[in-house]
Amino acid sequence: MSSTYTKLIVGWVALAGLLVLGFRLNPIDYAVENIQHEFSWASIVPSDKLEWTDCYSAHQCARLNVPLNYSEPEGEKAAIALTRYPAAVPADSPLYRGPVLFNPGGPGGSGVDMIALAGSALAVMVGPEFDIIGFDPRGVSHSTPRVSFFETNMERNAWGNPSLTDLNSSSDALGRFWARAQVYNRFAAERGSYQHINTDNTARDMLQIVRAHGREKLQYWGISYGSVLGAVFASMFPDKVERIVIDGVVDAENYFDALWSNNLLDTDKALQAFFDGCVAAGPEACAFHAPTPEAIFKNLTTLFKSIQTRPIPVHGPPGGSRLIDYDLLRRLVLATLYWPYSLFSPVAALLAALARGDEALPILLPIPTFECPNDPAEHQFDNVADSQVAIICNDGRAVPSGFDEAEKHYQMMAKTSSWGSILASVRIMCSGWPEDTPKRHFQGPVTGNTSFPLLIIGNTADPITPLQNAKKMSKAFTGSVVLTQDCPGHTSLAGASPCTWGYIREYFLNGTLPDNDIVCPVLGSLFPNPGASGLQENEQTVFSAARRDMFNFEAFETVQSSARRSMTNFLL
Ligand SMILES: *[C@@H]1O[C@H](CO)[C@@H](O)[C@H](O)[C@H]1NC(C)=O
Ligand SMILES: *[C@@H]1O[C@H](CO)[C@@H](O)[C@H](O)[C@H]1NC(C)=O
Ligand SMILES: *[C@@H]1O[C@H](CO)[C@@H](O)[C@H](O)[C@H]1NC(C)=O
Ligand SMILES: *[C@@H]1O[C@H](CO)[C@@H](O)[C@H](O)[C@H]1NC(C)=O
Ligand SMILES: *[C@@H]1O[C@H](CO)[C@@H](O)[C@H](O)[C@H]1NC(C)=O
Repeated sequence: MSSTYTKLIVGWVALAGLLVLGFRLNPIDYAVENIQHEFSWASIVPSDKLEWTDCYSAHQCARLNVPLNYSEPEGEKAAIALTRYPAAVPADSPLYRGPVLFNPGGPGGSGVDMIALAGSALAVMVGPEFDIIGFDPRGVSHSTPRVSFFETNMERNAWGNPSLTDLNSSSDALGRFWARAQVYNRFAAERGSYQHINTDNTARDMLQIVRAHGREKLQYWGISYGSVLGAVFASMFPDKVERIVIDGVVDAENYFDALWSNNLLDTDKALQAFFDGCVAAGPEACAFHAPTPEAIFKNLTTLFKSIQTRPIPVHGPPGGSRLIDYDLLRRLVLATLYWPYSLFSPVAALLAALARGDEALPILLPIPTFECPNDPAEHQFDNVADSQVAIICNDGRAVPSGFDEAEKHYQMMAKTSSWGSILASVRIMCSGWPEDTPKRHFQGPVTGNTSFPLLIIGNTADPITPLQNAKKMSKAFTGSVVLTQDCPGHTSLAGASPCTWGYIREYFLNGTLPDNDIVCPVLGSLFPNPGASGLQENEQTVFSAARRDMFNFEAFETVQSSARRSMTNFLL
């Protein structure tokens, strides 16, 4: 097992984000911290046209002016940060197919960071005829004005980040979370430029980006929250759809109701895949092994129970000491279900070590929670959780601010799923959110007869966007098709599937949609044998030779790890 340990660094990132766990499993992830500061966004002057500057090796960056308020087109501007990995063919070539915009979810995830890391890999997936474009939605990270309610990182650390919390952690967890939301949202009211931050405006911004490329229609791939953004665009501008892939689909109606109550339908299915996979893999490959799925479930429950009253102290290297408490462990297990093929095995090792009471948890290499910057300007483009809160709370219908309301919501969520005690915190986070501007922006219904049909992708056991949402979404869009990927995990990027990859490529390149009832298998094993290297092919998976040849595992892994990074810092 120790070889797994040495390859693995699980970082506890207590910085921005709702799911405050960053998983650093792949060398590509290390580049991220450097990427943040390698390029000076402040050096680009925002412009009404796309003016590209070289950045992030082989990429180009630009800041595009858009109206802050689309009802006042001549008024104040927002500057949208864009990164592109340019097509392999020049724009005047007959082979050139225009830009594909990508959104990595969150809400609040940075498309710039995602493309800076994975632009060339995505170009392998989507095709070299396309420009691969990442953008930070308005309010987020490198786009200005950035949403930020705190003047220093120290202040943010003290009061900010209403992180997703398990409200069953202690008897006052719910009360504390609610009270904290009141304070946080007062900071927002006093400090924030949040009024124009919503999905409606971001959809309009996407159309501006498309037009700035000299084109009329959108080509887009959105995962997770990106499915809301794609569906909102398709509803507002049905005639402007050239290709839209939405993948890991959120129930948009439920999202705009600010309920977050339809996310957990398949969570236990994904957890069951952990239990079943662990039993099948045996004790060599799964350290948390027991003879039956029920026994593993029991062991996990026992661990949760014990940690609820007795957090586990971890004395690490300098700056690396931690308490692993119930809340952290519960969120870790939920986050693990997003990325089974990379995380099941290492997290099983962690659970086993915790259950044994190992003092040295060698796989935990903590990351400093924050530093006091010498130069605050350096951090002006950091991705902070405030933008996520602004998008969620502005988009959704007003949440009553009383504690009783919060408690009622918690009780309802706790009844729907054993993970409801975590997801309940999303709505409660909006308790006390400033409601000073009337909500005139798009809040559904998402529906439309689009100029090109949508390709909608769902996994059979997605822990946070159940397959049912994809089917519901498909009913709302004329001619759209649901492609099912047969695996646990969040979005198609959770599992390596030449079949899914092939359909996505065909859709973008040739406009071919799969039949409605296609179920794509995935490669790989949930608990790979410790000795084995690379991809272990599932016996039962059969692909056409062409599909298999098109698939590039390295490119897929790069895309997956950058998506994983975007998402484990965020919610969806
Ligand atoms: C946007 O502009 C319109 C027209 O001036 C105005 O009525 C509206 O309140 C503005 N929206 C926001 C959020 O300020
Ligand atoms: C699971 O529980 C069984 C019986 O209670 C125990 O013998 C075993 O060590 C536990 N396994 C783990 C990995 O905690
Ligand atoms: C809260 O935790 C206790 C102890 O682990 C558990 O028995 C109970 O079902 C949990 N309640 C909810 C609502 O999740
Ligand atoms: C969708 O639009 C097309 C083209 O305008 C039209 O032919 C078709 O009847 C519409 N379908 C529906 C269900 O409205
Ligand atoms: C697209 O269509 C062309 C011509 O029909 C075909 O040769 C090619 O294989 C298709 N490409 C994909 C990715 O399906």
